Amino acid sequence: MGSDFSEATATDAVVESFAETPDARLREVMQSFTRHLHAFVRDVEPTQGEWEAAIGFLTAVGHLSDDRRQEFILLSDVMGVSMLVDAINNRRPVGATESTVLGPFHVVESPARALGDDLAEAHEAPRCLVRGRVLDLDGRPVAGALVDVWQADDQGFYDVQKDDLAPDLRGLFTCDEVGRFWFRTIVPLHYPIPDDGPVGALLRATGRHPYRPAHIHFIAGAAGHNPVTTHLFVEGSPYLEDDTVFGVKQSLVRPVRQEDDEETATSLGLPNPFQVIDFDITLAEDRSPTGG
Ligand code: BEZ
Ligand code: FE
Repeated sequence: MGSDFSEATATDAVVESFAETPDARLREVMQSFTRHLHAFVRDVEPTQGEWEAAIGFLTAVGHLSDDRRQEFILLSDVMGVSMLVDAINNRRPVGATESTVLGPFHVVESPARALGDDLAEAHEAPRCLVRGRVLDLDGRPVAGALVDVWQADDQGFYDVQKDDLAPDLRGLFTCDEVGRFWFRTIVPLHYPIPDDGPVGALLRATGRHPYRPAHIHFIAGAAGHNPVTTHLFVEGSPYLEDDTVFGVKQSLVRPVRQEDDEETATSLGLPNPFQVIDFDITLAEDRSPTGG
């Protein structure tokens, strides 16, 4: 005769219920999830009301999630799960540019741009030259690498958060024959993640702020190399020490410098001296069987 489902037998009973799962990975995942979920419930001992509140919270997260707003990913972000999954899946060799979260604002395809283009035509703020090279681990240039860039403006807003739907502060660049890319833009401001939903309520209830430090997003890739999804972070920005999505890596922090170079200024239509951020990106070779 089987034993009743009780505090003592609950975990084993549910783990056992997945024993015949044909897919071995799904079996492993569900049995591990059961053990960890039950351990959490045993640790916290929720009241019935707290259980209902938890269901209500997850329901609200679901209601706010669709193909435009992903509150579940935001929840994963503020719990550090997105960055942990990123770390597990991007164990790169020393020297390769570190990865960080994609974020929810890579929602429109970046328009193809010519090297040197201005990403900030609709903005008044002073221009900053962003330039770098895409290199391999031996320091050799990766000619023709693709560099996709998107960023918030100097008020902390992405184009998709505004009514005007024209792509702004986005660009897809093809590096030159010595792996260089460069473009004009404005220095972004730190900003809050979307905090008008249940994830924002959770942050407020726990005394956490919703801010991310100022950053510019990049995805860089080239044939035969592992692509990297990363940011450059603006040195001196608030929240570099306590990014609400845990995305900062010290190796990605760069200063905005003043450069005095009449020739470069003239060729790019910048005042002299001008602001500049240098950001080289190092890609590791793709060693997977299909990676070439
Ligand atoms: C972002 O940097 O765009 C971002 C990342 C995670 C959550 C919200 C925003
Ligand atoms: Fe961002």
